[in-house]
Amino acid sequence: MSAGLSLPHDAAPLQVKGEARYIDDLPFPANALHLAFGLSTVAHGEITGIDLSAVRAAPGVVMVLSAEDLPDMPDCSPSAHDEPLLAVGKVHYVGQPVFLVVAESHLAARKAAKLGKVSFKELPALLTVDDALAANSRFEQGPVTWTKGDAAGAIANAAQVIEGSFEVGGQEHFYLEGQVAAAVPLEGGDFHVMSSTQHPTEVQHKVAHALHLPMSAVRVEVRRMGGGFGGKESQGNALAIACAVAARALGRPCRMRYDRDDDMVITGKRHDLRIGYRAGIDAEGRVLGIEFLHLFRCGWSQDLSLPVADRAMLHADNCYDLPHIRIESHRLKTNTQSATAYRGFGGPQGIVGIERVMDHAAFAVGRDPSAVRKLNFYAPMDAKAGQTTPYHMPVEDFIGHELVADLERTSGYAARKTEIAAWNAGSPILKRGLSLVPVKFGISFTLTWLNQAGALVHVYQDGSIALNHGGTEMGQGLFQKIAQVTAGVFGVDTGVVKITATDTAKVPNTSATAASSGADLNGMAARIAAETIKGRLADFIAEKHQVKPETVKFVDGTVRVAGEVYAWEKVVAWAYQARISLSSTGYYATPKITWDRVKGQGRPFFYFAYGAAVTEVVIDRLTGENRILRVDILHDTGTSLNPALDIGQVEGAYVQGAGWLTTEELVWDGKGKLTTHAPSTYKIPASSDRPRVFNVALWGKPNREDSVGKSKAVGEPPFNLGISAFLALSDAVAACGDGSVYPALDAPATAERVLMAVRRVEGRV
Ligand code: MTE
Ligand code: MOS
Repeated sequence: MSAGLSLPHDAAPLQVKGEARYIDDLPFPANALHLAFGLSTVAHGEITGIDLSAVRAAPGVVMVLSAEDLPDMPDCSPSAHDEPLLAVGKVHYVGQPVFLVVAESHLAARKAAKLGKVSFKELPALLTVDDALAANSRFEQGPVTWTKGDAAGAIANAAQVIEGSFEVGGQEHFYLEGQVAAAVPLEGGDFHVMSSTQHPTEVQHKVAHALHLPMSAVRVEVRRMGGGFGGKESQGNALAIACAVAARALGRPCRMRYDRDDDMVITGKRHDLRIGYRAGIDAEGRVLGIEFLHLFRCGWSQDLSLPVADRAMLHADNCYDLPHIRIESHRLKTNTQSATAYRGFGGPQGIVGIERVMDHAAFAVGRDPSAVRKLNFYAPMDAKAGQTTPYHMPVEDFIGHELVADLERTSGYAARKTEIAAWNAGSPILKRGLSLVPVKFGISFTLTWLNQAGALVHVYQDGSIALNHGGTEMGQGLFQKIAQVTAGVFGVDTGVVKITATDTAKVPNTSATAASSGADLNGMAARIAAETIKGRLADFIAEKHQVKPETVKFVDGTVRVAGEVYAWEKVVAWAYQARISLSSTGYYATPKITWDRVKGQGRPFFYFAYGAAVTEVVIDRLTGENRILRVDILHDTGTSLNPALDIGQVEGAYVQGAGWLTTEELVWDGKGKLTTHAPSTYKIPASSDRPRVFNVALWGKPNREDSVGKSKAVGEPPFNLGISAFLALSDAVAACGDGSVYPALDAPATAERVLMAVRRVEGRV
């Protein structure tokens, strides 16, 4: 199996020319209206009065709605029916939509929304995990606990115990295109909705529910998003529902997009959490028993918090065989934005915990962290029958040993470690640090039924092909990959395949494009649809030549049969005239997976994707300022469907992961107001923060499972490689001390936190 072609992203030429259309670029009828929300200014309170007279009187305003105008309040939540479109009676966070303005222009709607006078009786707000714990404010009855073996016993018998607790910050998605939606009323009360969503079927379902329509009356279309990163799995529901409600009330098309500040204040982010750990280790750094405590700050509504926190538990082992483990996970309800999906979906929060432990263990026994990691690795692929994860899933495909050995060699890890130590000894102010972090990431939705997909392929009588499937395009290159898979089945050039917008009227009941499984699921469905049509063509042409259909070959834009070579278009035209159907759906459901989330047992994942990164940083011990100097990554994408796109995903994911743990800091004030609500105060990595040396290579060996083209999912796994930037900073901080104090960095490791950690290891605080 050879890798697919490194063709460019299908939207690249359109983007360069400014022709790629996002929802806000679409032409709308001149009578289209614009929406904006008026927001809560308190974190928790009863609404005691709403005076919207100034809003109604503002120029261009057509309609204003609050809870009293919507007795049948629509729900926007993806799960627990706990998110009214507009606050009813109470508000639960600063930024919660309280009223809705519909106006003739975007600016008119926004300006008018500022004129609302809402009075509140403030109630005590739970802002932190400590507040929520003290008040026992949580989703689910109590913590979720999964165990394997006897962690407490193993820790009690260990030579040494390391323990600690650290804070891990959240993360703003910062998609370039903010949340946006539009709804156009159609004849007979139907609706056409355009939404920047990773989950068109969910938007369809929520809009239908809000309007009491059958799902068949609502068509949702998504050509592309300008980034989603998990922030458009559920957070776009409110805009689409608001547009549909207003469009129905007024009989005019309605559009809504959040201004950047509103987007940051209203929508949920990555979950922040506190991770506690206690591990018993031996003299070499082997982890004999371990206990984790996850305190997740979930915000005001449940959203996707339960599966996100589950996935953190499912990644608490990362690459390590932990025979005795106990993980306790609290899903705490606070008066803040409802934390949501974000690249990795909780996995990174689980992995950063065990990577911290490995780092701490190596420090405690005075060994190279990479050696300690390898000592704790799962056994190589197939070497140890019966080895299982903490959730009792067999680990059969572990390639960490080979992959890390390769990366250590290509990155010159050992020699650089020695060179850096010597350099640091002679450098009083600047200190360099190095860290190697591996990753193992489980691929599949843990909600088993989501692991299905559909596709629709048409071959037109001129031989051109139209492709549609349930996945959405958010920049990751999914459409391009699936076009290549489809073209590959017919043996035609990828340019023959027209990529079309995701559309609930074409492929129904789709899952969110999430869990990195877009290509795995939709690629298979498209391949199955294409194979069906190809089978019909092969039967048809084989019969003409009195040969077996298996002998018909589709290559290089031709169909070869019994020594004849026909142009693809010719065969298609003949088949059409012979009344052969040239259209097919395809359907795929991932095999092998089973999962009992209550017990925490089963095989939630079809397979694992692997990778490793070596990051080198330098810090200034006087200011805490720092830079990433060099990154080397080896990442497993199986037999890549498109190496260029996969390398792009790995690079972007690494930088985003490093941003999460270094510069991206969310700060709420004592009243629950997000103070970092614009790029002026929230620091995402810029192009100038890119590692000076950035070597990314793909591990080209095929997936051992039967995935599309033997490829592996790539969207989220490499995000975790950014953890190596965090731990390289920790390594550099450690070099400021005498080796007796572990730096114990909190994340994000901003310059201030790096400086505080330097002071700790220097013994100055
Ligand atoms: N890459 C780009 N450019 N933009 C995005 O929004 N989202 C990530 C990842 N890569 C994202 C991205 C997330 S969170 C996921 S789950 C996957 O892409 C989803 O797409 P896939 O399943 O096709 O990999
Ligand atoms: Mo990705 S967080 O699964 O959208």
